[in-house]
Amino acid sequence: MAETVKVLVSEEEVDKKIRALGEQISKDYAGRQVHLICVLKGGVFFMCELAKRISVPVTMDFMSVSSYGDKTSSSGVVKIAKDLDETLEGKDVLVIEDIIDSGRTLYYLLDILQKRNPNSMRLCTLLDKPERRVRDVKVDYVGFEIPDEFVVGYGLDYAQKYRNLPYIGVVEGVE
Ligand code: IMP
Ligand code: MG
Repeated sequence: MAETVKVLVSEEEVDKKIRALGEQISKDYAGRQVHLICVLKGGVFFMCELAKRISVPVTMDFMSVSSYGDKTSSSGVVKIAKDLDETLEGKDVLVIEDIIDSGRTLYYLLDILQKRNPNSMRLCTLLDKPERRVRDVKVDYVGFEIPDEFVVGYGLDYAQKYRNLPYIGVVEGVE
């Protein structure tokens, strides 16, 4: 059977949700500047769209972590492949993620970032699979809670493919 992608969350629904998250974040950070941290590569599409919908001053930085594991689950042993360019000292940090699955990656990452003395640190994820949680992470902003299915699009990949889809989908026809 050929690999196909079934739409789970449409482009319109994603756009609408990001607009709403942007409004909420703008309210919550009123009078402050927010420092967005994108976890590459998956978080990049979401962060760009979200940043456009935030009306308080925004700065951004990027980091890349790899968590050892197989194709569809992470081990939680996180290696920083590319670190942030700037310090977090005194900043109001908002970590942007594509998806929280077991929570292992974020659990370790947030711990590392917290030690860099931000003024505050919150977490925003486009997708959340609460059923899969192994490590407890506090999520401040969630786009969509989704069932335990492997999803692609909007930054998320399957073997590096499908990141560019403008919607969230489920890959079908995979062995
Ligand atoms: P965690 O450490 O298990 O929370 O894994 C988080 C990372 O695993 C995410 O940042 C994604 O890169 C990847 N991941 C988890 N679930 C999915 C999925 O359904 N599709 C694509 N990537 C996923
Ligand atoms: Mg990721």
